[in-house]
Amino acid sequence: MTGSEPSTVLTPDFYHYPWRPLSTATIDGDFVKLTWADGYSLSAYSWWLRESIVADGATDPNTRECTIDPADFDDSLSVTDVELDTTGALRVGFSDGFAGVLHPGWLHHVATGTHRPGAVIPDPIAWTTQTLSEPPTFNGAAVLGGDHNELLSFLNAMVVHGLARLTDVPARASGHRDSAIEGLVAVTDLIGVRRDTNFGPVWSVKAEISGDFENSTANTGLRLGPHADLPTREIPPGFQFLHCVANSVGGGWSRMTDGAALVAHLEANEPDTFEALTSLDWVFFNRSRDHDHRWVGPMIDHGAPGSPLTIRAFYPVRGFPAMDSDDVPRAYRAAKRFHQLGADPRFQIGYPFRPGDLVGFDNRRMLHGRDAFDPGGGVRHLRGTYVDHDEVYSRIRVLARARVGSMVPSATTSPDHSPSSQEVVAP
Ligand SMILES: [Fe+2]
Repeated sequence: MTGSEPSTVLTPDFYHYPWRPLSTATIDGDFVKLTWADGYSLSAYSWWLRESIVADGATDPNTRECTIDPADFDDSLSVTDVELDTTGALRVGFSDGFAGVLHPGWLHHVATGTHRPGAVIPDPIAWTTQTLSEPPTFNGAAVLGGDHNELLSFLNAMVVHGLARLTDVPARASGHRDSAIEGLVAVTDLIGVRRDTNFGPVWSVKAEISGDFENSTANTGLRLGPHADLPTREIPPGFQFLHCVANSVGGGWSRMTDGAALVAHLEANEPDTFEALTSLDWVFFNRSRDHDHRWVGPMIDHGAPGSPLTIRAFYPVRGFPAMDSDDVPRAYRAAKRFHQLGADPRFQIGYPFRPGDLVGFDNRRMLHGRDAFDPGGGVRHLRGTYVDHDEVYSRIRVLARARVGSMVPSATTSPDHSPSSQEVVAP
């Protein structure tokens, strides 16, 4: 039998996979059992194989998306024959007369679980002040200069620890797309799409802001207790980025607490408080002339199984208890305890915000805040934006796959986000 040229076997995506020849392929009822020499195996359902072949009438060669409406599957559709060609590619014939070839490297990545959403996303590690004293810090100038490894390290640290810092991010960036854009925009452009809100796509935290601007306690010199932004939304923004462009005031240190560590502490040591915080709902809503965002949920919101943790803890927008009257007193005491712990020296770190610092943090996991400062003592100007979890995880996948060489984005990926081929390391 002739062999397949690896370059001619298309995969149902735009990555290139190392060629991993199959050892065996056998029909087992409605499945095809596949094995590789490294010990991995895969039991592939016939209909899934049928729709995964890249050819007209299955997965479209241009879009790489499946074109088969499941309603059109023939109930009797089955695999009639399988064979491996001389290069180890899988050839499959079906009862409807369709036949095609599947890339053994692409099948192998399914066998190893690399296709799953969390495959290359690092696991979070909860921290306390005993294990973390300041944000993991990376070189912002290098990131803006195109260092994809530095960007990946920064993003991975944001996921693992819930926060990470870039230094030396200028107020106005040069050498990236448009030399006139601000540093925060240049950095987040390298990650993904920013999430707009009623505060605008990019906003200022500055004590002097007033007038028609959608204002908040953040734009004063007051202390901001530990909180997470926008619990008024069904899904609050995933990551928040704050960039210090000017700071000449005394005080105003940033404060950060790992909500994941608080949740773990409460669950293990204060079960009554944990139960109240995870089960008693509050109505959160924003005070505004032009907007009325509302959501009801517990302060520690675990959501549906598999959902990421969402801390709903921003007292300026916590409006009403949404629970039986008998539960309200213990709900308030649990809220008090949660915010006490949020500012407890065992859990909360503090650090100055220097011009050029850009801190990214998981807004659904971390509690952030700041010390009070004197607005008359100078200028403290932060620029902020949100980028949802999906965008950060997507960028990590693209960058991580290029680093390990398991999959390499093709030239069809946006050149602004594509690592250079020189960075690819063969596995
Ligand atoms: Fe905030």
